[in-house]
Amino acid sequence: MATVTGAEHPREAPGPILGIETSCDETAAALLAPDGTVLAEALFSQHEEHLPYAGVVPEIAARAHLARLPAMVARVLEGQPAPAAVAATVGPGLIGGLVVGAGYAKGFALARGIPFLAINHLEAHALSPRLPMLGAPPDFPYLTLLVSGGHCLLAETGGPGDHALLGTTLDDAPGEAFDKVAKMLGLGWPGGPAIEALAKEGDAARFGLPRPMLGKRGCDFSFSGLKTAVAVIASGYPDGALPRRDAADLAAGFQASAAASLADRAGRAMAAFIERHGHAATLVVSGGVAANGAIRAALAAVCARHGFALAAPPIRLCTDNAVMVAWAAIERLRAGLAADGMDAAPRPRWPLGEAA
Ligand code: KG4
Ligand code: ZN
Repeated sequence: MATVTGAEHPREAPGPILGIETSCDETAAALLAPDGTVLAEALFSQHEEHLPYAGVVPEIAARAHLARLPAMVARVLEGQPAPAAVAATVGPGLIGGLVVGAGYAKGFALARGIPFLAINHLEAHALSPRLPMLGAPPDFPYLTLLVSGGHCLLAETGGPGDHALLGTTLDDAPGEAFDKVAKMLGLGWPGGPAIEALAKEGDAARFGLPRPMLGKRGCDFSFSGLKTAVAVIASGYPDGALPRRDAADLAAGFQASAAASLADRAGRAMAAFIERHGHAATLVVSGGVAANGAIRAALAAVCARHGFALAAPPIRLCTDNAVMVAWAAIERLRAGLAADGMDAAPRPRWPLGEAA
């Protein structure tokens, strides 16, 4: 086997990279080898803590990150080679959690005299399909569709630090709409999986729900009109108690409209991409909502129409995790981007495509 020298790979990460994720309600740490192999990983979902409130409570999330992160990092590092750099999500997200993760990572970097990388959570999602464990990576540039409880965007991903935002939501994120509609229908939280399960028994056409943004110019999204349409129908039932049949039809209709809307927006981005580059590429879909089978099917159909490949990382890498944070750091180091200073502050808002 040929020896790989530093000269041939001048920008390889200098050693294992520790990644930390605390931007929402997942506390996570992961150690990746410079080639992206996962050496160790720990992830804790705080769902139980937030369940009584049917939504993420920022203060509870921050305290839970603080209580668990140090022990999780210790577990990940046990018996492993020492990290050569540490990367943490510094935005966008809930400020309390970002302060915990970024503060911890900076302290770790200072104590060990290793570099610190401030990672944009959206970039980490966007680069995650290039993890080597997922097989042949999509080449840059590709289209990224990020759909979760807190995020909704379409972007052209040209490489680490190179993202052009094509569209974003004008109101709710799709996962947020799934969660709110689930609440109206008396389903549990998070709402996405509950709606998907109930929709299987439903008639999507019965209530004639609107299909937001269909055919509209650009690649922006909107879900509040669709959500309101469901609310108006649900409020017509005495005490808000819907017969199962009606709830199933509403769930199916809502899901079909959301899927059609996402596919329409992605289709427009693909057409524009082909106009810009003269060829099709890959659509990467990430975020918790990418778990939805109807949405995946709608995206697969629109990709096929435009000659695009569809890349959807497995769900555990689609939802928040620290593997993608460490991987984003590896990609950035490989691209020759510099590590960050200790003055890189947590950023609750940090649009994709803006420098740290
Ligand atoms: O990425 P994620 O775990 O956390 C962030 O929001 O960052 O996404 C969670 C969101 C929730 O709103 C949840 O309802 C939604 O993803 N979700 C789904 C499904 N599974 C999770 N939405 C639709 N269908 C699903 N099967
Ligand atoms: Zn996320």
